[in-house]
Amino acid sequence: MIQLVYISAATAPMSKQDLKDLLQYCRQHNPQIGVTGMLFYGNGTFLQVLEGEEQVIDELLDTIEQDPRHTGLQVIQRKAITEREYADWSMGFQQVSERALRAAASAELDDFHEGDFKTGYLREHRIVVQSLMDHFRKQRIKAAGQSELGVDEEDAMINVLHRIIRLSVRALAIMMVITIVWGVLEVGYALYSQLLAPAVTDLRINDIVVIFGAFLSVLIAIEIFVNITLYLRDDVVHVKLVIATALMAIARKVIVFDFEKLTPMYILATAAVVLALGLVYWLMDRQTVIGARYQRPEA
Ligand SMILES: Cc1cc2nc3c(=O)[nH]c(=O)nc-3n(C[C@H](O)[C@H](O)[C@H](O)COP(=O)(O)O)c2cc1C
Repeated sequence: MIQLVYISAATAPMSKQDLKDLLQYCRQHNPQIGVTGMLFYGNGTFLQVLEGEEQVIDELLDTIEQDPRHTGLQVIQRKAITEREYADWSMGFQQVSERALRAAASAELDDFHEGDFKTGYLREHRIVVQSLMDHFRKQRIKAAGQSELGVDEEDAMINVLHRIIRLSVRALAIMMVITIVWGVLEVGYALYSQLLAPAVTDLRINDIVVIFGAFLSVLIAIEIFVNITLYLRDDVVHVKLVIATALMAIARKVIVFDFEKLTPMYILATAAVVLALGLVYWLMDRQTVIGARYQRPEA
């Protein structure tokens, strides 16, 4: 693996929306090719750290270099690594503004100002580049262990709201774990009471089906937990996983169907939902595969 750092000049000032679009693309594409890193932008200048397999990084760099959004790309550091420094970021982001620099309160960055963040200066002051990278990487790790902050993080109110949401999601994750443990205990208890039944014949097929239902409920709870943790990691709702969870939930219902009590209409409607969810899942799966192939013609 290698870690590579380059600097470049934006051909036109990047608006928040431009940066958001760029980051959204990177955060979607980089995990598919095993790339991590961080992007700094300020004063019309980019500084980007890229980590990954050498060949992948070289190919990505070729693509990035041809991007018309910037020019004059210069690699200022390239080294072999055994461990990623930005393992948690498919592409972290830091706006280099006077405010962020002063808030950094770092001795090495005391004499560094937003106006200095330009390729000529950065090329000559590698120590500053290293300090910038180190400082903001560590700050991110401290900032509640968030993985990917949005480009809006400079806005104090949005920042607070963002934190509240993440805290709420964390609370949900904890409650979900409690639910899972509770579910496991329930399944254990149901099994235990069945095993204690006077004769094996008492363990009727219906009871077994009920136990299957309880098992599947716990699995669904685990899927929901995974949904929550993935949201915390990526700041994105993974729709494919949500569909998979819905499929599991409906499959659970199908498994415990009591055909003597259900109306044909109910069964048909359930079949339609299963079909629709299955189709959506298949389409999303196909899109991911085709997308990955499109973006990695060598694969
Ligand atoms: C400063 C900058 C950094 C970029 N970083 C990445 C990156 O980390 N990963 C990525 O896939 N594309 C990145 N891009 C976008 C690529 O240059 C390119 O637009 C994208 O890979 C799509 O290329 P394609 O249309 O040839 O598939 C970056 C672009 C710029 C201007």
